Amino acid sequence: MPDKAKHKKLPPLFVIKATMGLRNFLVKITKGMLPANFVMLEEASAIWKAKSIEVAAQLNISDYLEEKPLPISQLAALAECNEDALYRMMRTLAGEGIYKELSDKHFTNTKLSKAIQTKEDSVKYFVMHHVGVNNWDLVGDLLNCVKTGENAITHKFGMEPFEYLEKHPEKNNIFNKAMTETAELSGSIFLNAYNFCNYKKIIDIGGGQGHLLAQILEKFPATEAILFDQAHVVGDALNLLKQNGVDDRCSIVEGSFFASIPPNGDLYILKNILHDWDDSTSAEILQKIRAAMLPHSKLLLIETIIKPNNKPSFGKFIDLQMLIGTSGGKERTLEEFTKLLTEAGFAFRRVIENATPFSFIEAVTN
Ligand SMILES: C[S@@+](CC[C@H](N)C(=O)[O-])C[C@H]1O[C@@H](n2cnc3c(N)ncnc32)[C@H](O)[C@@H]1O
Repeated sequence: MPDKAKHKKLPPLFVIKATMGLRNFLVKITKGMLPANFVMLEEASAIWKAKSIEVAAQLNISDYLEEKPLPISQLAALAECNEDALYRMMRTLAGEGIYKELSDKHFTNTKLSKAIQTKEDSVKYFVMHHVGVNNWDLVGDLLNCVKTGENAITHKFGMEPFEYLEKHPEKNNIFNKAMTETAELSGSIFLNAYNFCNYKKIIDIGGGQGHLLAQILEKFPATEAILFDQAHVVGDALNLLKQNGVDDRCSIVEGSFFASIPPNGDLYILKNILHDWDDSTSAEILQKIRAAMLPHSKLLLIETIIKPNNKPSFGKFIDLQMLIGTSGGKERTLEEFTKLLTEAGFAFRRVIENATPFSFIEAVTN
């Protein structure tokens, strides 16, 4: 992982919150001044922005523009595209500030377009997962999901979401890379927001390819860890741990959290796990972890928390993702988390917010 990504400096949380508040306020004022029908058309046209970004990511456009601006003819040849069609997509993206069009149909990267380059510090695969082959058909099934409460994967493909990924290695690969990218994105912020150094043995349940643990272990040399996830997910984890020079302090355990949980951890992390499951299944997972814990162990949920207000939030979008893509999974309010925890034998301790949309919810055994 490049050093630049690890040590990315962000403004303090209150500055970020104030700036976002100001942005939302200005957007609201602008929309209020324009005719509603016009604003609504503009809102619904966001589909073209999202899909064009994903197609640009798939075509590696930002990689081709890495060295210097290119004419559309050369870009089309490199990306094996129809020149006129690619130009129309590129000028749309340039209009949205994603790329920049120079004279004579030449295009260049911007700070934004570099975020979908093929490199470690990127969100290319997240974009491809979110708006591309993994999700596009599922989003199209939203009407049925809203009418029935059924998820799109089961409705369209007749199987459970994680079973679907296991049976589709290409999609599973994009999904795992997307999860790794989001872990990388938030990792350095998490390390500064929580005292992971207080724990000798940390167990990440459903920890994906081990990205969060790799970052924790690299920063805290006295800590040991266990990465626990399904066999088809942890396949590449050892390489990642080796790259970070922490493989000697991290065991990889393959398994299902419905069967058994590695015991005796000082800290159990569940990052973006409970949002995949309905309340009764989440309770089952929590109870299994509770049974594996020592009296002094702590539990750390890392999830978005839905706030009772009318503000825009990333968590509300992810909640729709859970609606279409999981069997009963959802983003939760703090009350809902506290209820789940209490019913599974935990005592809620505190919430720690940070600059990402994901909050820490700390709990202890009751
Ligand atoms: C949304 S991803 C989160 C991954 C990682 N914690 C992160 O935040 O990047 C959910 C994870 O749960 C894992 N998972 C799903 N079912 C599981 C099971 N029965 N046992 C263990 N892990 C499971 C998936 O393989 C996947 O890595």
